[in-house]
Amino acid sequence: MRQAIVLHFLLGVLACLSPVTHIKAEDPYVYYNWVVEYGEVSPLGVKQRGILINGQFPGPTVNVTTNDNVIVNLQNKLDEPLLITWQGIKQRKSSWQDGVLGTNCPIPPNSNWTYKMQMKDQIGTYTYFPSTLLHRAAGGYGGFNIMARSVIPVPYPKPYEEFTVLISDWWKKDHKSVEHRMTTSINFRIQGHTLRLVECEGSHTIQEVYESLDLHVGQSSSFLVTTHSMGETKDFFIVASTRFTKPKILTSTAILHYQGSKSAASGPLPIAPTYHIHWSMKQARTIRWNLTANAARPNPQGAFHYGTIQVVRTIVLENTAAKINGKLRYAINKISYINPDTPLKLADYFNIPGVFTLNSTKDTPPAGPAVLGTSVIATSLHDFVEIVFQNTESTVQSWHLDGNDFWSVGYGGGKWNSTLRRRFYNYNDAPTRCTVQVYPYSWSAILVSLDNKGMWNLRSANWPRRYLGQELYVRVWNDEKSLFTEYDIPPNALLCGKAKR
Ligand SMILES: *[C@@H]1O[C@H](CO)[C@@H](O)[C@H](O)[C@H]1NC(C)=O
Ligand SMILES: *[C@@H]1O[C@H](CO)[C@@H](O)[C@H](O)[C@H]1NC(C)=O
Ligand SMILES: *[C@@H]1O[C@H](CO)[C@@H](O)[C@H](O)[C@H]1NC(C)=O
Ligand SMILES: *[C@@H]1O[C@H](CO)[C@@H](O)[C@H](O)[C@H]1NC(C)=O
Ligand SMILES: *[C@@H]1O[C@H](CO)[C@@H](O)[C@H](O)[C@H]1NC(C)=O
Repeated sequence: MRQAIVLHFLLGVLACLSPVTHIKAEDPYVYYNWVVEYGEVSPLGVKQRGILINGQFPGPTVNVTTNDNVIVNLQNKLDEPLLITWQGIKQRKSSWQDGVLGTNCPIPPNSNWTYKMQMKDQIGTYTYFPSTLLHRAAGGYGGFNIMARSVIPVPYPKPYEEFTVLISDWWKKDHKSVEHRMTTSINFRIQGHTLRLVECEGSHTIQEVYESLDLHVGQSSSFLVTTHSMGETKDFFIVASTRFTKPKILTSTAILHYQGSKSAASGPLPIAPTYHIHWSMKQARTIRWNLTANAARPNPQGAFHYGTIQVVRTIVLENTAAKINGKLRYAINKISYINPDTPLKLADYFNIPGVFTLNSTKDTPPAGPAVLGTSVIATSLHDFVEIVFQNTESTVQSWHLDGNDFWSVGYGGGKWNSTLRRRFYNYNDAPTRCTVQVYPYSWSAILVSLDNKGMWNLRSANWPRRYLGQELYVRVWNDEKSLFTEYDIPPNALLCGKAKR
Protein backbone atom coordinates (compact mmCIF):
# COMPACT_ATOMS: atom_id res chain seq x y z
CA MET A 1 0.00 0.00 0.00
CA ARG A 2 1.38 3.40 -0.91
CA GLN A 3 0.60 6.71 0.64
CA ALA A 4 -0.65 9.56 -1.47
CA ILE A 5 2.26 11.79 -2.41
CA VAL A 6 2.37 15.39 -3.49
CA LEU A 7 4.13 16.28 -6.71
CA HIS A 8 5.25 19.84 -7.35
CA PHE A 9 4.95 21.03 -10.94
CA LEU A 10 6.89 24.13 -11.87
CA LEU A 11 5.30 25.13 -15.09
CA GLY A 12 6.78 27.59 -17.54
CA VAL A 13 5.10 28.66 -20.73
CA LEU A 14 7.67 30.00 -23.13
CA ALA A 15 6.47 31.51 -25.98
CA CYS A 16 11.16 38.37 -15.43
CA LEU A 17 22.72 41.52 -10.37
CA SER A 18 24.99 42.95 -9.53
CA PRO A 19 28.66 43.24 -10.35
CA VAL A 20 30.91 41.13 -8.24
CA THR A 21 32.11 44.08 -6.18
CA HIS A 22 28.61 44.69 -4.80
CA ILE A 23 27.73 41.10 -4.03
CA LYS A 24 27.60 40.40 -0.34
CA ALA A 25 30.23 37.88 0.61
CA GLU A 26 27.91 35.87 2.80
CA ASP A 27 25.54 34.96 0.00
CA PRO A 28 26.50 31.72 -1.78
CA TYR A 29 27.76 31.58 -5.34
CA VAL A 30 26.43 29.22 -7.99
CA TYR A 31 28.49 28.87 -11.17
CA TYR A 32 27.34 27.72 -14.56
CA ASN A 33 29.42 27.30 -17.67
CA TRP A 34 27.15 27.06 -20.69
CA VAL A 35 28.21 26.19 -24.18
CA VAL A 36 25.56 27.23 -26.68
CA GLU A 37 25.74 25.49 -30.04
CA TYR A 38 23.70 24.03 -32.84
CA GLY A 39 22.77 20.40 -32.67
CA GLU A 40 20.14 17.93 -33.66
CA VAL A 41 16.81 18.00 -31.85
CA SER A 42 13.64 16.12 -32.66
CA PRO A 43 10.74 17.36 -30.54
CA LEU A 44 8.29 16.26 -33.26
CA GLY A 45 10.07 13.03 -34.08
CA VAL A 46 11.72 14.66 -37.09
CA LYS A 47 15.39 15.56 -36.82
CA GLN A 48 15.98 19.29 -37.08
CA ARG A 49 18.69 21.79 -36.31
CA GLY A 50 18.15 23.32 -32.90
CA ILE A 51 20.06 25.25 -30.24
CA LEU A 52 21.55 23.21 -27.41
CA ILE A 53 23.05 24.31 -24.11
CA ASN A 54 25.75 21.91 -22.92
CA GLY A 55 24.30 19.37 -25.34
CA GLN A 56 20.83 19.61 -23.80
CA PHE A 57 17.47 20.56 -25.25
CA PRO A 58 15.71 22.17 -23.44
CA GLY A 59 18.68 23.70 -21.64
CA PRO A 60 19.60 22.85 -18.04
CA THR A 61 17.14 23.89 -15.32
CA VAL A 62 18.61 26.55 -13.06
CA ASN A 63 17.67 25.67 -9.49
CA VAL A 64 18.92 28.19 -6.95
CA THR A 65 17.94 29.85 -3.66
CA THR A 66 16.92 33.43 -2.77
CA ASN A 67 19.94 35.79 -2.61
CA ASP A 68 22.27 33.35 -4.38
CA ASN A 69 24.82 34.93 -6.69
CA VAL A 70 24.41 33.23 -10.04
CA ILE A 71 27.38 33.44 -12.39
CA VAL A 72 26.76 32.21 -15.92
CA ASN A 73 29.64 32.08 -18.36
CA LEU A 74 27.96 31.88 -21.74
CA GLN A 75 30.04 30.60 -24.63
CA ASN A 76 28.51 31.45 -27.97
CA LYS A 77 29.33 28.76 -30.53
CA LEU A 78 26.58 29.80 -32.93
CA ASP A 79 27.41 31.66 -36.13
CA GLU A 80 25.35 34.66 -34.99
CA PRO A 81 25.48 37.14 -32.08
CA LEU A 82 23.66 35.88 -29.00
CA LEU A 83 22.13 37.07 -25.72
CA ILE A 84 20.14 35.14 -23.17
CA THR A 85 17.54 36.91 -21.08
CA TRP A 86 16.17 35.76 -17.73
CA GLN A 87 12.42 36.23 -17.86
CA GLY A 88 11.16 37.27 -14.45
CA ILE A 89 14.55 37.58 -12.75
CA LYS A 90 14.38 41.09 -11.35
CA GLN A 91 18.06 42.07 -11.68
CA ARG A 92 17.73 44.57 -8.86
CA LYS A 93 19.64 47.81 -9.54
CA SER A 94 21.28 46.14 -12.51
CA SER A 95 19.59 46.19 -15.91
CA TRP A 96 23.19 45.67 -17.06
CA GLN A 97 22.63 41.91 -16.71
CA ASP A 98 19.20 41.73 -18.33
CA GLY A 99 20.42 40.26 -21.61
CA VAL A 100 18.29 42.20 -24.09
CA LEU A 101 19.58 44.41 -26.92
CA GLY A 102 18.47 47.60 -25.15
CA THR A 103 20.80 46.89 -22.24
CA ASN A 104 23.58 44.65 -23.57
CA CYS A 105 25.70 44.32 -26.67
CA PRO A 106 25.24 40.84 -28.10
CA ILE A 107 27.95 38.24 -27.53
CA PRO A 108 29.71 37.79 -30.89
CA PRO A 109 30.11 34.29 -32.36
CA ASN A 110 32.98 32.26 -30.94
CA SER A 111 33.33 34.34 -27.81
CA ASN A 112 31.88 34.34 -24.35
CA TRP A 113 30.49 36.68 -21.72
CA THR A 114 29.80 36.21 -18.04
CA TYR A 115 26.53 37.27 -16.41
CA LYS A 116 26.76 38.09 -12.71
CA MET A 117 23.35 38.23 -11.15
CA GLN A 118 22.01 38.13 -7.64
CA MET A 119 18.61 36.59 -6.87
CA LYS A 120 18.01 39.35 -4.34
CA ASP A 121 14.80 38.90 -2.33
CA GLN A 122 13.18 36.76 -4.97
CA ILE A 123 11.50 33.36 -5.12
CA GLY A 124 9.49 31.68 -7.85
CA THR A 125 9.44 29.85 -11.15
CA TYR A 126 10.78 31.55 -14.24
CA THR A 127 12.37 30.82 -17.61
CA TYR A 128 15.36 31.89 -19.66
CA PHE A 129 15.77 32.03 -23.41
CA PRO A 130 17.76 33.73 -26.19
CA SER A 131 16.53 37.28 -26.82
CA THR A 132 18.38 37.77 -30.10
CA LEU A 133 16.92 37.28 -33.60
CA LEU A 134 14.53 34.32 -33.58
CA HIS A 135 16.89 32.01 -31.72
CA ARG A 136 14.25 31.33 -29.11
CA ALA A 137 12.29 29.48 -31.77
CA ALA A 138 15.11 26.95 -32.10
CA GLY A 139 15.88 26.26 -28.44
CA GLY A 140 18.41 27.61 -25.98
CA TYR A 141 15.72 27.95 -23.32
CA GLY A 142 15.00 26.35 -19.98
CA GLY A 143 13.45 26.68 -16.54
CA PHE A 144 14.75 28.92 -13.75
CA ASN A 145 13.57 28.17 -10.21
CA ILE A 146 14.39 30.20 -7.13
CA MET A 147 13.63 28.33 -3.92
CA ALA A 148 12.92 30.05 -0.61
CA ARG A 149 15.72 30.12 1.97
CA SER A 150 15.30 27.37 4.53
CA VAL A 151 14.57 29.91 7.32
CA ILE A 152 11.54 31.29 5.44
CA PRO A 153 8.43 29.14 5.83
CA VAL A 154 6.65 28.29 2.58
CA PRO A 155 2.82 28.03 2.80
CA TYR A 156 2.65 24.38 1.76
CA PRO A 157 4.29 21.13 2.88
CA LYS A 158 7.45 19.95 1.17
CA PRO A 159 6.40 17.96 -1.88
CA TYR A 160 7.66 14.45 -2.52
CA GLU A 161 9.11 15.33 -5.87
CA GLU A 162 9.45 18.35 -8.17
CA PHE A 163 9.11 18.54 -11.94
CA THR A 164 9.83 21.43 -14.22
CA VAL A 165 7.54 21.37 -17.25
CA LEU A 166 8.14 23.67 -20.19
CA ILE A 167 5.44 24.11 -22.75
CA SER A 168 6.50 25.47 -26.07
CA ASP A 169 5.28 25.15 -29.58
CA TRP A 170 7.49 23.92 -32.34
CA TRP A 171 7.44 23.78 -36.05
CA LYS A 172 9.27 21.90 -38.67
CA LYS A 173 11.41 24.69 -40.07
CA ASP A 174 14.78 26.09 -39.26
CA HIS A 175 14.50 29.27 -37.12
CA LYS A 176 16.14 31.28 -39.85
CA SER A 177 13.23 30.63 -42.17
CA VAL A 178 10.43 31.04 -39.67
CA GLU A 179 8.31 34.12 -40.04
CA HIS A 180 4.91 33.22 -38.72
CA ARG A 181 3.97 30.88 -35.97
CA MET A 182 1.03 30.25 -33.83
CA THR A 183 1.64 31.39 -30.35
CA THR A 184 -1.26 31.14 -28.01
CA SER A 185 -2.41 30.32 -24.52
CA ILE A 186 -2.75 26.75 -23.35
CA ASN A 187 -4.97 24.86 -20.97
CA PHE A 188 -3.18 22.37 -18.71
CA ARG A 189 -4.82 19.43 -16.91
CA ILE A 190 -4.17 15.93 -15.59
CA GLN A 191 -6.75 13.20 -16.05
CA GLY A 192 -8.23 12.08 -12.73
CA HIS A 193 -6.27 14.67 -10.69
CA THR A 194 -6.69 18.26 -9.62
CA LEU A 195 -4.17 21.09 -9.58
CA ARG A 196 -3.60 23.14 -6.44
CA LEU A 197 -2.11 26.45 -7.50
CA VAL A 198 0.49 27.64 -4.98
CA GLU A 199 2.59 30.21 -6.80
CA CYS A 200 2.66 32.38 -9.88
CA GLU A 201 5.85 34.21 -10.89
CA GLY A 202 7.04 34.73 -7.34
CA SER A 203 3.69 35.33 -5.57
CA HIS A 204 2.26 32.78 -3.20
CA THR A 205 -1.37 32.49 -4.19
CA ILE A 206 -4.53 31.57 -2.35
CA GLN A 207 -4.42 27.82 -2.90
CA GLU A 208 -7.41 27.33 -5.18
CA VAL A 209 -7.96 23.88 -6.64
CA TYR A 210 -8.54 23.66 -10.39
CA GLU A 211 -9.65 20.92 -12.77
CA SER A 212 -7.69 22.69 -15.46
CA LEU A 213 -5.70 25.87 -15.66
CA ASP A 214 -5.16 28.37 -18.44
CA LEU A 215 -1.58 29.55 -18.87
CA HIS A 216 -0.52 32.26 -21.23
CA VAL A 217 2.62 32.73 -23.25
CA GLY A 218 5.55 33.78 -21.10
CA GLN A 219 3.86 32.99 -17.79
CA SER A 220 4.96 30.50 -15.20
CA SER A 221 3.26 29.00 -12.17
CA SER A 222 3.66 26.16 -9.79
CA PHE A 223 1.04 23.82 -8.44
CA LEU A 224 0.75 20.73 -6.34
CA VAL A 225 -0.78 17.45 -7.46
CA THR A 226 -1.70 14.83 -4.90
CA THR A 227 -1.38 11.36 -6.33
CA HIS A 228 -3.87 8.57 -5.64
CA SER A 229 -3.19 6.39 -2.63
CA MET A 230 -3.68 2.62 -2.23
CA GLY A 231 -1.44 1.58 -5.10
CA GLU A 232 -3.02 3.05 -8.20
CA THR A 233 -2.73 0.52 -11.05
CA LYS A 234 -3.30 2.69 -14.09
CA ASP A 235 -1.60 5.66 -15.74
CA PHE A 236 -3.15 9.02 -16.56
CA PHE A 237 -2.91 11.57 -19.33
CA ILE A 238 -1.28 14.96 -18.78
CA VAL A 239 -2.85 17.27 -21.35
CA ALA A 240 -1.97 20.65 -22.81
CA SER A 241 -4.30 22.08 -25.45
CA THR A 242 -4.40 25.41 -27.24
CA ARG A 243 -6.84 28.17 -26.34
CA PHE A 244 -8.55 30.83 -28.46
CA THR A 245 -7.54 29.09 -31.68
CA LYS A 246 -10.88 28.76 -33.37
CA PRO A 247 -11.57 26.39 -35.09
CA LYS A 248 -8.40 24.34 -34.79
CA ILE A 249 -7.33 23.11 -31.36
CA LEU A 250 -3.96 21.45 -30.95
CA THR A 251 -3.61 18.97 -28.13
CA SER A 252 -0.51 17.30 -26.82
CA THR A 253 -0.26 14.70 -24.09
CA ALA A 254 2.23 13.21 -21.69
CA ILE A 255 1.79 10.40 -19.18
CA LEU A 256 1.58 10.45 -15.40
CA HIS A 257 2.95 6.98 -14.73
CA TYR A 258 2.28 5.15 -11.47
CA GLN A 259 4.96 2.76 -10.35
CA GLY A 260 3.58 -0.75 -10.61
CA SER A 261 0.76 0.36 -12.88
CA LYS A 262 -0.53 -2.39 -15.15
CA SER A 263 -2.59 -0.42 -17.63
CA ALA A 264 -1.72 2.42 -19.92
CA ALA A 265 -3.58 5.71 -19.75
CA SER A 266 -6.95 5.33 -21.42
CA GLY A 267 -10.36 6.85 -21.78
CA PRO A 268 -11.33 10.24 -23.15
CA LEU A 269 -9.00 13.12 -22.42
CA PRO A 270 -10.40 15.41 -19.74
CA ILE A 271 -12.40 18.14 -21.41
CA ALA A 272 -11.43 21.78 -21.27
CA PRO A 273 -12.65 25.09 -22.60
CA THR A 274 -11.59 25.98 -26.14
CA TYR A 275 -12.62 29.50 -27.10
CA HIS A 276 -14.60 30.67 -24.01
CA ILE A 277 -12.88 33.96 -23.19
CA HIS A 278 -15.27 34.66 -20.34
CA TRP A 279 -14.32 31.37 -18.65
CA SER A 280 -10.64 32.26 -18.78
CA MET A 281 -11.19 35.82 -17.55
CA LYS A 282 -13.21 34.50 -14.64
CA GLN A 283 -10.52 31.98 -13.79
CA ALA A 284 -7.84 34.69 -14.02
CA ARG A 285 -9.74 36.71 -11.38
CA THR A 286 -9.61 33.73 -8.99
CA ILE A 287 -5.81 33.83 -8.95
CA ARG A 288 -5.21 35.91 -5.86
CA TRP A 289 -2.36 36.83 -3.55
CA ASN A 290 -2.19 35.13 -0.18
CA LEU A 291 -1.84 38.31 1.88
CA THR A 292 -0.56 36.55 4.99
CA ALA A 293 2.01 34.29 3.32
CA ASN A 294 5.49 35.72 3.11
CA ALA A 295 7.47 36.05 -0.08
CA ALA A 296 11.27 36.02 -0.17
CA ARG A 297 11.38 37.83 3.17
CA PRO A 298 9.45 37.06 6.34
CA ASN A 299 7.12 40.09 6.01
CA PRO A 300 3.66 39.26 4.67
CA GLN A 301 2.96 39.89 1.00
CA GLY A 302 -0.06 42.03 1.90
CA ALA A 303 2.06 44.46 3.96
CA PHE A 304 2.32 46.56 0.81
CA HIS A 305 -1.17 48.04 0.44
CA TYR A 306 -0.96 48.71 -3.26
CA GLY A 307 -4.64 49.59 -3.55
CA THR A 308 -4.17 52.74 -1.47
CA ILE A 309 -1.27 54.22 -3.43
CA GLN A 310 -1.92 57.24 -5.63
CA VAL A 311 -1.40 56.52 -9.35
CA VAL A 312 0.76 59.27 -10.89
CA ARG A 313 0.32 58.30 -14.51
CA THR A 314 -1.95 56.14 -16.68
CA ILE A 315 -0.51 54.72 -19.89
CA VAL A 316 -2.81 52.97 -22.36
CA LEU A 317 -0.88 50.77 -24.78
CA GLU A 318 -2.61 49.38 -27.84
CA ASN A 319 -1.25 46.62 -30.06
CA THR A 320 -1.69 46.76 -33.81
CA ALA A 321 -0.46 44.94 -36.88
CA ALA A 322 0.42 47.07 -39.89
CA LYS A 323 2.34 47.12 -43.12
CA ILE A 324 5.30 49.49 -42.97
CA ASN A 325 7.28 49.93 -46.20
CA GLY A 326 5.31 47.00 -47.56
CA LYS A 327 6.36 44.59 -44.80
CA LEU A 328 4.33 43.15 -41.93
CA ARG A 329 5.19 44.83 -38.63
CA TYR A 330 3.65 44.95 -35.17
CA ALA A 331 3.38 48.15 -33.16
CA ILE A 332 2.55 49.56 -29.72
CA ASN A 333 0.75 52.90 -29.87
CA LYS A 334 1.70 53.08 -33.54
CA ILE A 335 5.45 52.68 -33.02
CA SER A 336 7.11 49.53 -34.25
CA TYR A 337 10.37 49.13 -32.37
CA ILE A 338 13.73 48.88 -34.07
CA ASN A 339 16.92 48.13 -32.14
CA PRO A 340 19.59 50.81 -32.53
CA ASP A 341 23.22 49.64 -32.90
CA THR A 342 23.98 51.12 -29.50
CA PRO A 343 22.17 49.64 -26.50
CA LEU A 344 19.98 52.29 -24.86
CA LYS A 345 21.56 51.67 -21.50
CA LEU A 346 25.03 52.36 -22.88
CA ALA A 347 23.79 55.49 -24.66
CA ASP A 348 22.47 56.71 -21.30
CA TYR A 349 25.66 55.84 -19.47
CA PHE A 350 28.04 57.45 -21.96
CA ASN A 351 25.66 60.35 -22.76
CA ILE A 352 25.58 59.43 -26.44
CA PRO A 353 22.97 61.56 -28.23
CA GLY A 354 20.81 60.50 -31.16
CA VAL A 355 20.18 56.90 -30.10
CA PHE A 356 16.65 57.42 -28.74
CA THR A 357 14.26 60.19 -27.74
CA LEU A 358 12.32 59.98 -24.48
CA ASN A 359 8.52 59.75 -24.51
CA SER A 360 8.18 59.19 -28.25
CA THR A 361 5.44 56.71 -27.29
CA LYS A 362 2.28 58.59 -26.31
CA ASP A 363 0.35 57.77 -23.13
CA THR A 364 -2.76 57.04 -25.19
CA PRO A 365 -2.99 55.37 -28.62
CA PRO A 366 -2.60 58.05 -31.30
CA ALA A 367 -4.40 58.15 -34.63
CA GLY A 368 -2.57 57.72 -37.89
CA PRO A 369 -0.34 55.12 -39.45
CA ALA A 370 2.29 53.08 -37.60
CA VAL A 371 5.93 54.11 -37.97
CA LEU A 372 9.30 52.58 -37.11
CA GLY A 373 11.00 53.97 -34.02
CA THR A 374 12.99 53.38 -30.85
CA SER A 375 10.48 53.99 -28.11
CA VAL A 376 11.50 54.75 -24.55
CA ILE A 377 8.94 55.78 -21.93
CA ALA A 378 10.50 58.15 -19.39
CA THR A 379 9.55 57.59 -15.75
CA SER A 380 10.97 58.61 -12.40
CA LEU A 381 12.23 56.16 -9.82
CA HIS A 382 9.35 55.14 -7.49
CA ASP A 383 6.60 56.34 -9.83
CA PHE A 384 3.40 54.35 -9.23
CA VAL A 385 1.95 53.81 -12.68
CA GLU A 386 -1.18 52.26 -14.16
CA ILE A 387 -0.67 50.54 -17.51
CA VAL A 388 -3.65 49.38 -19.54
CA PHE A 389 -3.07 46.96 -22.40
CA GLN A 390 -5.78 47.37 -25.00
CA ASN A 391 -6.13 44.53 -27.48
CA THR A 392 -7.99 45.43 -30.66
CA GLU A 393 -7.16 42.15 -32.38
CA SER A 394 -8.78 38.72 -32.47
CA THR A 395 -5.82 36.87 -30.94
CA VAL A 396 -4.76 36.67 -27.28
CA GLN A 397 -1.75 38.86 -26.37
CA SER A 398 0.76 38.48 -23.58
CA TRP A 399 2.92 41.32 -22.20
CA HIS A 400 6.01 41.06 -20.07
CA LEU A 401 7.88 43.73 -18.10
CA ASP A 402 11.49 43.20 -17.02
CA GLY A 403 12.90 44.40 -13.71
CA ASN A 404 9.66 45.27 -11.92
CA ASP A 405 6.80 43.09 -10.75
CA PHE A 406 3.29 44.42 -11.16
CA TRP A 407 -0.14 43.76 -9.76
CA SER A 408 -2.42 42.39 -12.48
CA VAL A 409 -5.53 44.13 -11.17
CA GLY A 410 -8.16 43.83 -13.88
CA TYR A 411 -9.38 42.14 -17.05
CA GLY A 412 -12.40 43.19 -19.09
CA GLY A 413 -13.96 43.01 -22.53
CA GLY A 414 -14.14 45.84 -25.06
CA LYS A 415 -12.50 49.22 -24.75
CA TRP A 416 -11.08 50.38 -21.43
CA ASN A 417 -12.16 53.63 -19.79
CA SER A 418 -11.45 54.96 -16.33
CA THR A 419 -14.95 54.23 -14.95
CA LEU A 420 -14.18 50.50 -15.34
CA ARG A 421 -11.64 50.74 -12.53
CA ARG A 422 -14.34 50.82 -9.91
CA ARG A 423 -16.15 47.83 -11.36
CA PHE A 424 -13.35 45.51 -12.34
CA TYR A 425 -10.13 46.26 -10.44
CA ASN A 426 -8.92 44.11 -7.59
CA TYR A 427 -7.39 46.65 -5.21
CA ASN A 428 -6.90 44.11 -2.45
CA ASP A 429 -5.28 40.81 -3.35
CA ALA A 430 -4.27 40.73 -7.01
CA PRO A 431 -1.08 38.67 -7.50
CA THR A 432 2.19 40.37 -8.38
CA ARG A 433 3.72 38.93 -11.48
CA CYS A 434 5.71 39.93 -14.54
CA THR A 435 3.59 38.70 -17.48
CA VAL A 436 -0.06 39.48 -18.17
CA GLN A 437 -2.45 38.15 -20.80
CA VAL A 438 -4.83 40.33 -22.78
CA TYR A 439 -7.83 38.52 -24.23
CA PRO A 440 -9.07 39.10 -27.78
CA TYR A 441 -10.88 42.48 -28.13
CA SER A 442 -10.31 43.08 -24.41
CA TRP A 443 -8.12 44.99 -21.96
CA SER A 444 -5.94 44.11 -18.99
CA ALA A 445 -4.74 46.59 -16.38
CA ILE A 446 -1.66 46.49 -14.17
CA LEU A 447 -0.33 48.70 -11.39
CA VAL A 448 3.42 48.95 -11.03
CA SER A 449 5.67 50.61 -8.52
CA LEU A 450 8.80 51.46 -10.52
CA ASP A 451 11.32 50.88 -7.76
CA ASN A 452 14.12 49.41 -9.83
CA LYS A 453 16.26 52.01 -11.55
CA GLY A 454 17.36 50.99 -15.02
CA MET A 455 16.33 50.52 -18.63
CA TRP A 456 13.62 47.86 -18.71
CA ASN A 457 12.18 45.98 -21.64
CA LEU A 458 8.40 45.88 -22.00
CA ARG A 459 7.64 43.32 -24.67
CA SER A 460 5.14 41.07 -26.27
CA ALA A 461 5.79 37.51 -25.05
CA ASN A 462 4.51 36.34 -28.44
CA TRP A 463 7.93 36.07 -29.95
CA PRO A 464 7.33 36.81 -33.66
CA ARG A 465 5.42 39.92 -32.65
CA ARG A 466 8.25 41.11 -30.49
CA TYR A 467 10.75 40.31 -33.24
CA LEU A 468 8.71 42.45 -35.63
CA GLY A 469 8.46 45.48 -33.40
CA GLN A 470 6.17 44.93 -30.42
CA GLU A 471 8.44 46.06 -27.61
CA LEU A 472 9.63 49.25 -25.99
CA TYR A 473 11.74 50.31 -23.02
CA VAL A 474 10.72 51.92 -19.75
CA ARG A 475 13.51 54.11 -18.40
CA VAL A 476 13.25 54.28 -14.64
CA TRP A 477 15.45 57.17 -13.68
CA ASN A 478 16.57 59.72 -11.14
CA ASP A 479 19.47 62.11 -11.49
CA GLU A 480 21.25 60.98 -8.37
CA LYS A 481 24.25 58.80 -9.11
CA SER A 482 24.43 56.36 -6.24
CA LEU A 483 25.16 52.69 -5.79
CA PHE A 484 22.17 52.57 -3.43
CA THR A 485 19.85 53.01 -6.40
CA GLU A 486 21.83 51.52 -9.29
CA TYR A 487 25.02 49.55 -9.69
CA ASP A 488 27.74 50.84 -11.93
CA ILE A 489 28.46 49.43 -15.37
CA PRO A 490 30.07 46.00 -14.93
CA PRO A 491 33.80 45.92 -15.69
CA ASN A 492 33.29 43.23 -18.33
CA ALA A 493 30.50 45.09 -20.21
CA LEU A 494 30.77 44.59 -23.96
CA LEU A 495 30.83 47.81 -25.98
CA CYS A 496 29.33 48.17 -29.45
CA GLY A 497 27.79 50.73 -31.79
CA LYS A 498 28.55 54.33 -30.80
CA ALA A 499 29.72 53.14 -27.37
CA LYS A 500 32.72 51.40 -28.92
CA ARG A 501 35.48 53.95 -28.69
C1 LIG B 1 15.97 22.34 -6.28
O1 LIG B 1 16.80 22.38 -5.15
C2 LIG B 1 16.14 22.09 -3.94
C3 LIG B 1 17.09 22.35 -2.79
O2 LIG B 1 18.39 21.88 -3.10
C4 LIG B 1 15.61 20.67 -3.99
O3 LIG B 1 14.91 20.39 -2.80
C5 LIG B 1 14.67 20.55 -5.17
O4 LIG B 1 14.21 19.24 -5.31
C6 LIG B 1 15.35 20.98 -6.47
N1 LIG B 1 14.34 21.06 -7.51
C7 LIG B 1 14.56 20.73 -8.78
C8 LIG B 1 13.41 20.93 -9.71
O5 LIG B 1 15.64 20.32 -9.16
C1 LIG C 1 35.41 32.51 -21.39
O1 LIG C 1 35.35 31.17 -20.95
C2 LIG C 1 36.56 30.64 -20.49
C3 LIG C 1 36.37 29.16 -20.24
O2 LIG C 1 35.37 28.92 -19.30
C4 LIG C 1 37.01 31.42 -19.28
O3 LIG C 1 38.27 30.96 -18.82
C5 LIG C 1 37.12 32.90 -19.60
O4 LIG C 1 37.38 33.65 -18.44
C6 LIG C 1 35.84 33.41 -20.23
N1 LIG C 1 36.03 34.77 -20.73
C7 LIG C 1 35.19 35.75 -20.47
C8 LIG C 1 35.49 37.05 -21.14
O5 LIG C 1 34.19 35.63 -19.75
C1 LIG D 1 -1.90 31.67 3.25
O1 LIG D 1 -0.64 31.60 3.87
C2 LIG D 1 -0.73 31.26 5.23
C3 LIG D 1 0.63 31.49 5.87
O2 LIG D 1 1.62 30.70 5.30
C4 LIG D 1 -1.22 29.83 5.32
O3 LIG D 1 -1.30 29.44 6.66
C5 LIG D 1 -2.61 29.76 4.69
O4 LIG D 1 -3.05 28.44 4.65
C6 LIG D 1 -2.60 30.32 3.29
N1 LIG D 1 -3.99 30.48 2.86
C7 LIG D 1 -4.50 29.98 1.73
C8 LIG D 1 -5.95 30.20 1.53
O5 LIG D 1 -3.83 29.42 0.89
C1 LIG E 1 7.52 61.95 -20.15
O1 LIG E 1 6.11 62.02 -20.01
C2 LIG E 1 5.65 62.18 -18.67
C3 LIG E 1 4.13 62.13 -18.68
O2 LIG E 1 3.59 62.98 -19.62
C4 LIG E 1 6.18 63.49 -18.11
O3 LIG E 1 5.78 63.62 -16.77
C5 LIG E 1 7.69 63.47 -18.19
O4 LIG E 1 8.20 64.72 -17.75
C6 LIG E 1 8.16 63.21 -19.60
N1 LIG E 1 9.61 63.08 -19.58
C7 LIG E 1 10.40 63.53 -20.53
C8 LIG E 1 11.87 63.40 -20.29
O5 LIG E 1 9.98 64.08 -21.53
C1 LIG F 1 -16.97 52.81 -20.13
O1 LIG F 1 -17.13 51.47 -20.63
C2 LIG F 1 -18.34 50.87 -20.23
C3 LIG F 1 -18.28 49.40 -20.66
O2 LIG F 1 -17.89 49.28 -22.00
C4 LIG F 1 -19.51 51.63 -20.84
O3 LIG F 1 -20.73 51.03 -20.42
C5 LIG F 1 -19.46 53.06 -20.34
O4 LIG F 1 -20.45 53.82 -20.98
C6 LIG F 1 -18.08 53.68 -20.64
N1 LIG F 1 -18.01 54.98 -19.98
C7 LIG F 1 -17.49 56.04 -20.56
C8 LIG F 1 -17.44 57.27 -19.72
O5 LIG F 1 -17.08 56.01 -21.71
